[in-house]
Amino acid sequence: MATYDLVVIGTGPGGYVCAVRAAQLGMKVAVVEKNATLGGTCLNVGCMPSKALLHASEMFEEAGHSFAKMGVSVSAPKLDLPAMMNFKQQGIDGNVKGVEFLMKKNKIDVLKGAGKILGTGKVEVSADGKSQVIETKSIVIATGSDIARLKGIEIDETRIVSSTGALSLDKVPGKLLIVGAGVIGLELGSVWHRLGAEVVVVEFLDRILPGMDGEIAKQFQRILEKQGFAFKLSAKVTGVDTSGKTLKATIEPAAGGAAETLEADVVLVCIGRVPYTEGLGLKEAGVALDNRGRVQIDPHFATSVKGVYAIGDVVAGPMLAHKAEDEGVAVAEIIAGQAGHVNYDVIPGVVYTTPEVSSVGKTEEELKQAGVAYTVGKFPFTANGRSKVNQTTDGFVKILADAKTDRVLGVHIIGREAGEMIHEAAVLMEFGGSAEDLARTCHAHPTRSEAIKEAALAVGKRAIHM
Ligand code: FAD
Ligand code: NAI
Repeated sequence: MATYDLVVIGTGPGGYVCAVRAAQLGMKVAVVEKNATLGGTCLNVGCMPSKALLHASEMFEEAGHSFAKMGVSVSAPKLDLPAMMNFKQQGIDGNVKGVEFLMKKNKIDVLKGAGKILGTGKVEVSADGKSQVIETKSIVIATGSDIARLKGIEIDETRIVSSTGALSLDKVPGKLLIVGAGVIGLELGSVWHRLGAEVVVVEFLDRILPGMDGEIAKQFQRILEKQGFAFKLSAKVTGVDTSGKTLKATIEPAAGGAAETLEADVVLVCIGRVPYTEGLGLKEAGVALDNRGRVQIDPHFATSVKGVYAIGDVVAGPMLAHKAEDEGVAVAEIIAGQAGHVNYDVIPGVVYTTPEVSSVGKTEEELKQAGVAYTVGKFPFTANGRSKVNQTTDGFVKILADAKTDRVLGVHIIGREAGEMIHEAAVLMEFGGSAEDLARTCHAHPTRSEAIKEAALAVGKRAIHM
């Protein structure tokens, strides 16, 4: 019987990163993966394929709409969707191979099959009707999440799709109806809208992107509407009639009332994700779940069973790849006897649309609710020189600082490259920095990042270019 120091179940960003860190710390490590490829949701059907299509569709849109005004004259771009899907697949394959390489480099055994926890120190791995039991000092559950389903609406991944199907449509839908104005709806809606689909988004709440700063969400909604998105807020889809050539979705006001019917070629259901624990044997092994089906952990990622830990989408917290990765590192260090730690107050979030939306720390709503006195500094990209010359002036930077101490509590950005720009705010916050610290840090000119410095100056009511 094979024996290990650590067996990690799942090779998404949480699992594979945990395995690498544990190997670096001298542990004998194996990963168990039931999918044909390593990398989990993120690499195979999540972050990476969606970003490949977002990039390719953005280039398509730019070639069609932005080149001419810069004096770059090209004939109207033609869409070759199979080639675009091939571009996406090459990106997936490259990253998956990268994870395989990391496993080899760090001498981590890859056990292909479904993992089941038999109790402290024992994992059963089953594949093709055969199973083996492996012994290990510690186990990390990193089994991720699965799509949340809508009652009465069956996902066939062809006409009624989840994000997985929406990443692989074989033609551009004439009309795409999206259920849920969260991150997936707005990113994948952007992809297909740029490629020619008419997009309608139905959202249960009275706003898009719940959890993001309200002012940012409102302005972002206006930008998307200007691009051609249609939103039906405070509404829910209660059924989809699939009998005809065109789908007929029934939409009702969230508060109840008269229903209407919307026709669509494809319906994308993206109403969140749920922890994935199927077949893991948690109940029998005595691993406790919380009231939302997530594996319950203590502040050190330990479950209710000795020697069994859990990280990533399968536990509480934002379902983000970088959160899973940081937890993977922290738990490996804890198992090795070190003081692994994740600062949940400084986890950036990015929506990879055009413009991008990024955020770190508290929103204005959260500060109000907590009764924290704060000051706001804002700076629009219309006043940023680089954005002006590039004619990409949508959006603004918003900094929230403690009214008494000036410590930065939250930063929110809408704008091109906002996803790259957010990290200087994250580093500043990690070090407990103030708006004054940001305002006095020399920023290269001309960059979009100067808008962050100006927003920090605006906290003290002394922005220069406004
Ligand atoms: P996962 O990546 O879900 O990996 C879990 C792995 O465990 C899977 O490979 C699964 O096969 C395996 N597994 C499950 N059960 C077993 C078992 N019993 N035995 C063996 N193996 C098992 N996040 C971002 O931060 N940025 C983004 O841009 C982003 N884009 C996304 C786009 C889409 C369309 C989707 C769906 C998600 C996106 N996410 C993004 C979220 C991100 O994918 C997840 O937060 C991340 O993958 C979670 O990592 P994980 O390691 O916890 O789990
Ligand atoms: P989400 O939680 O971001 O958004 C779901 C939306 O659906 C919410 O606005 C919610 O109010 C709405 N909703 C729920 N039930 C509904 C109903 N019955 N009718 C209409 N609307 C309904 O979830 P999403 O977009 O599915 O993404 C899942 C996860 O994947 C998220 O947690 C996200 O963090 C992660 N992700 C991250 C990305 C990124 O970091 N760029 C990209 C894509 C996904």
